[in-house]
Amino acid sequence: MDRSKLKGLILSGGKGTRMRPLTYTSAKQLIPVANKPVLFFGIEAMVEAGIEEIAIIVSPETGSEIRSAAGDGSQFGAKITYIDQDQPRGLAHAVLIAEPVIGDCPFVMYLGDNLLQHGIKPLVDEFKQLDCNCEILLTRVSNPSQFGVAELDSEGRVHRLTEKPKEPKSDLALVGVYMFDKNIFRAVREIKPSWRNELEITDAIQWLVDQKLTVHPHVVKGWWKDTGKIEDMLEANRTVLDTFERDLRGETDTTSSVEGKVVVEEGARIIDSVIRGPVIIGANARIEQAFIGPYTSVGSNCVISHAEIENSIVLENSAISHVEGRIEASLIGRNVKIGRTKRKPVAYRFNLGDNSEVGIL
Ligand code: DAU
Repeated sequence: MDRSKLKGLILSGGKGTRMRPLTYTSAKQLIPVANKPVLFFGIEAMVEAGIEEIAIIVSPETGSEIRSAAGDGSQFGAKITYIDQDQPRGLAHAVLIAEPVIGDCPFVMYLGDNLLQHGIKPLVDEFKQLDCNCEILLTRVSNPSQFGVAELDSEGRVHRLTEKPKEPKSDLALVGVYMFDKNIFRAVREIKPSWRNELEITDAIQWLVDQKLTVHPHVVKGWWKDTGKIEDMLEANRTVLDTFERDLRGETDTTSSVEGKVVVEEGARIIDSVIRGPVIIGANARIEQAFIGPYTSVGSNCVISHAEIENSIVLENSAISHVEGRIEASLIGRNVKIGRTKRKPVAYRFNLGDNSEVGIL
């Protein structure tokens, strides 16, 4: 089979219940890390690996939002088409409905809520060189029962794959990036839905193993996935910000100090403030008499004035002003307002969505 050109399949459907409250209003794959939607890291990783034709699986709930964010792919140098999945019937179901678009071509499947720090180019190159039917990526985790888990035999070959086992036999979790040849289409037709009524890709890969087809395991580091925990988001944000180079495109006045790896996007203004990198300040944001500390991403059009914040993510169009004490380890959604009021009685006034969390001094 010609492996010189692979196609890409990105799964961006599903329910997105984990990242609530943020995902009440938005697809989880569009949650930004260092001001970039997680989904875009996957698309860019594919383009970097030489993949130009990408199909994205979308759901009825968030399909239009994903379509308008990623468009026809020209912004990435790729050609993107969309495949509608009526319900989240499982990762293997997504493969099944993608067959007419993928055809005979080997392909990379990438789960849209996963992020691989070092991209996928070396892995795609390895898959092209090896004469295998499938390559899976594995990583060691402390909570394997939340993932697909792989058991390898004494020679390092894949022996058994189990989806979210209650009693995991290894700590090797399946990372959400897989490489397949056309045999996977036979596999997804053979398997039956699991206890959670989904066609599991884990079962389809087990079918390949059982048929004595070759499944190559590759252990990777530097992987992140949406687990719904804010600490994970902040860690992904820190990891990506650490890779940035200093790039000041906005305006900084002479009384401000901008230290270290800081990205200030077009139209942003830094007034009488201290920015201590790694930090990204989004386009048209205004930072005034504020401290933006290490490991913070401020979305576009945000206003932060008379406030201090570090190790946090603020999504676009939010405003934080006149807050005493430093904000840290926080995830603040879109269009949020945090401020001081002179209204009587002197009191805290909250208007918070379901599942919000607030910690006060
Ligand atoms: O992230 C790695 C894990 O991904 C693996 O360790 C597991 O073996 C694999 O089953 C998968 O587990 P999750 O249960 O965490 O997958 P999740 O439901 O979060 O879906 C992953 C992505 O695929 C997400 O972006 C939504 C999308 N999706 C999901 C389903 C079930 C679809 O597009 N269609 C679907 O039917």
